[in-house]
Amino acid sequence: MELLSLLFMSSCFLTLSRLTFGDQSGTSVFVKEGDDAILPCSLGTNENIEYVRFEWMKEGTKEEVFTCDSGVCYSPALPDRVSHFRDDLQHGNASIKIKNAQLEDEGIYTCSFPTSGKTFRIELVVGAAEPYVTSHDQINGGVLLQCDVKNANPKPTVEWRDSNNQIIHSEEPQVSKQGGRFYITLKATVEKNGRYRCVATQEKIHHQAQKEIHVHIYGGPVIVKDGADAILPCSLGTNENIEYVRFEWTKERTEKQVYIHDTGADYSPALPGRVSHFKDDLKNGNASIKINNVQLEDGGNYTCSFPTSGKTFRIELVVGAAEPYVTSHDQINGVVLLQCDVKNANPKPTVEWRDSNNQIIHSEEPQVSKQGDHVHITLKATVKKNGHYRCVATQEEIKHQTQKEIHVHIYEPNTRWKIVAVVAIVLAVAVVVGILVRRYFKNKKKTNKKECSAQELKLNADQSEPV
Ligand SMILES: *[C@@H]1O[C@H](CO)[C@@H](O)[C@H](O)[C@H]1NC(C)=O
Ligand SMILES: *[C@@H]1O[C@H](CO)[C@@H](O)[C@H](O)[C@H]1NC(C)=O
Ligand SMILES: *[C@@H]1O[C@H](CO)[C@@H](O)[C@H](O)[C@H]1NC(C)=O
Repeated sequence: MELLSLLFMSSCFLTLSRLTFGDQSGTSVFVKEGDDAILPCSLGTNENIEYVRFEWMKEGTKEEVFTCDSGVCYSPALPDRVSHFRDDLQHGNASIKIKNAQLEDEGIYTCSFPTSGKTFRIELVVGAAEPYVTSHDQINGGVLLQCDVKNANPKPTVEWRDSNNQIIHSEEPQVSKQGGRFYITLKATVEKNGRYRCVATQEKIHHQAQKEIHVHIYGGPVIVKDGADAILPCSLGTNENIEYVRFEWTKERTEKQVYIHDTGADYSPALPGRVSHFKDDLKNGNASIKINNVQLEDGGNYTCSFPTSGKTFRIELVVGAAEPYVTSHDQINGVVLLQCDVKNANPKPTVEWRDSNNQIIHSEEPQVSKQGDHVHITLKATVKKNGHYRCVATQEEIKHQTQKEIHVHIYEPNTRWKIVAVVAIVLAVAVVVGILVRRYFKNKKKTNKKECSAQELKLNADQSEPV
């Protein structure tokens, strides 16, 4: 198989001895539809046959395919499609070429020299396998590759191979046979960017042909929350300048025209004023658009197509990225109630409260309600310890996770009483001290007054004594 690949890497047609008819050696020529077929016929004697009559006929018909006589040649059955090789006549070579071989040209041809009575038989098979490849973008990542081989005979084997020449897993091939010809369709889904080849091999005739396709995969759906701006990616992947190439964005099911870019004019009939493209990226074949202020009803599958080249890309817009909102409510008896609300989420998220060690903490049963495709979830938990707590919303299907943090500071009841007691004691002491101080000063004033009067009296008494 490997040797075959090496020997016959290029798509081509080959001539090989396969059949023998009695004692004459015959030849089979395999071409694919539309190719030119060279039917060989040579006397093998190097005799100059420029002026010798030879006749090409198709067996089973009375058709004169090509006749040359004394240098005059004509092809009544296939006018203008048959020619010979003038220079080769000198060497006894009467080969002909049939242009643009059609399925109905298939058959056994005879090349005969009436003067010498020699006849050669050549089989023409218009059945060389030729693969045609297409790719279809899948929603949520992955590309479906399809390989079609038509009108092949003999039956080919068909494989998808990656850039390392490894056969990749494909679906069961769909094979049908019609009029001796085989039709084969082989599909494979790939999830990696790269080049892939569909290889068709017809062992019997040592023929191998292949077609390559380049795969560029987008990373799944675009997920935004309502009110945000969404960028829908679309790129030809060829770096071709598309400033003056028409491309159209439509929304599936609604068939609404979301955005049309045509030689310089842009319009967005379905979402007027809300859609724009990236001017600078057009030069690189990038037809991405931005939708402003996305609403729930904007969610869905969009197609980006290039009518001139027939290329279409699909991208899903999910307006449902979960976004948690957290609140806390102080409770009496030293606990705090945490509440997490996730609104308009799609797909349904799982919601958890986690502590600063990333451990899930015990919560109440979540309250879940639905509105269309969108889910609202409320999750409550009571905590008794100080710290950071996070509400984490996870949407597994779309590999989306968001979180909000809240800081909890609890006044423990013990501490509160202690503070009250200390404050009360301090206040009481202050009051008592105050009263005592006041009373002391009052007493002191009274005593002073009494002493004063006593001294005055004494003084007066001294002054009244005669000298
Ligand atoms: C006869 O001529 C054809 C066309 O040039 C060539 O392909 C073929 O090999 C020749 N046959 C022989 C035996 O020389
Ligand atoms: C196309 O352009 C958009 C907007 O600038 C950008 O986000 C995106 O990555 C581009 N895509 C490619 C394949 O370059
Ligand atoms: C988008 O397409 C995918 C698969 O083709 C399908 O599962 C999904 O339901 C579609 N979404 C909408 C909103 O139509």
